[in-house]
Amino acid sequence: PKKLTLGLFGFGVVGQGLLDIISSKNLNLSIKKIGIKHPEKQRTLSAELFTTNPDEIINDPEIDTVVELINDADAAYELVKRSLLAGKSVVSANKKLIAEHLPELISLAEETGKSFLYEGAACASIPIIRNLEEYYDNELLHEIRGIVNGSSNYILSKIYQEQMTYHAALKQAQDLGFAETDPLLDVGGYDPKFKLSIIAAHAYGLIVDPAQIFNYGIQYLSADDIRFSTEKGVRIKLVARAIPAEQHAISLFVMPAFVTAEEPLYQVENEYNGVVIQAAFADRQFFYGKGAGGHPTGSAVLSDIAALRYDYRYEYKKYHTLKQHLTLKTDQQIC
Ligand code: HSE
Repeated sequence: PKKLTLGLFGFGVVGQGLLDIISSKNLNLSIKKIGIKHPEKQRTLSAELFTTNPDEIINDPEIDTVVELINDADAAYELVKRSLLAGKSVVSANKKLIAEHLPELISLAEETGKSFLYEGAACASIPIIRNLEEYYDNELLHEIRGIVNGSSNYILSKIYQEQMTYHAALKQAQDLGFAETDPLLDVGGYDPKFKLSIIAAHAYGLIVDPAQIFNYGIQYLSADDIRFSTEKGVRIKLVARAIPAEQHAISLFVMPAFVTAEEPLYQVENEYNGVVIQAAFADRQFFYGKGAGGHPTGSAVLSDIAALRYDYRYEYKKYHTLKQHLTLKTDQQIC
């Protein structure tokens, strides 16, 4: 494997989780600089490792790999684009940035001959992108149905299991580092639709602007909804779905759904995620794992970094072969 020299942007929950994991392993890689916004914050690492100037990372010829883990998707977009143009491979966990700019970033990675990997952006510790890219490469996929937002699932689990209030459960999800800085992204179903759009790109080769995907969150669920579902022996979960609607069209949407005890997603509790894939020939598989948090997301990011030591890149075969043939069935048609 190649030795990598990393520049990291962001040192929040995921950045620190990644560093913990890297420190515990004997991988042939080093972190040369960490780009941050707030130098005044107390940090345990040497101050020399940090910079507030992105150019110190992007223009450093020794840094071959940029790992982008910042919160602000617009700033992240600039950093990722500049890093690819500067000839660096990039790993990102920023689902909003990826979902909103995927076609451009695919072209940029292809033009520069560099890799752009983002396993940590969808379902944290579940290797869903890699599986869609490789294992299901030649498989015709039917429905994909997933719990892909850890915070909403955590909140609903606490409401059902411990009769906690929505606000107390949300506060816990925030304290544990699962929630986005703006938690409406989680509970409003935006974060899961960014992930769904990334998953659809690799599953079907269909890349759609996430603004076109219908989302309805859990923030309006009432005590009556919870009571009714409990009485019926089902659970309400925030489910992201991709369903081939008719020939050459796919419906994508995120909304609360009743999940019965017989379905695999029923067992997915707390910050865990679960994805059920229904394929034409492989039949049904269920992927399950922690979907939020510093270590689960950091481990996915590290798996991308480790893959770069062997020059791994996504091929986007379905995107390149099927993109002309598929369209999104719009939400008006779903409703
Ligand atoms: N806020 C996200 C979630 C973090 O709760 O799933 C992981 O992407």
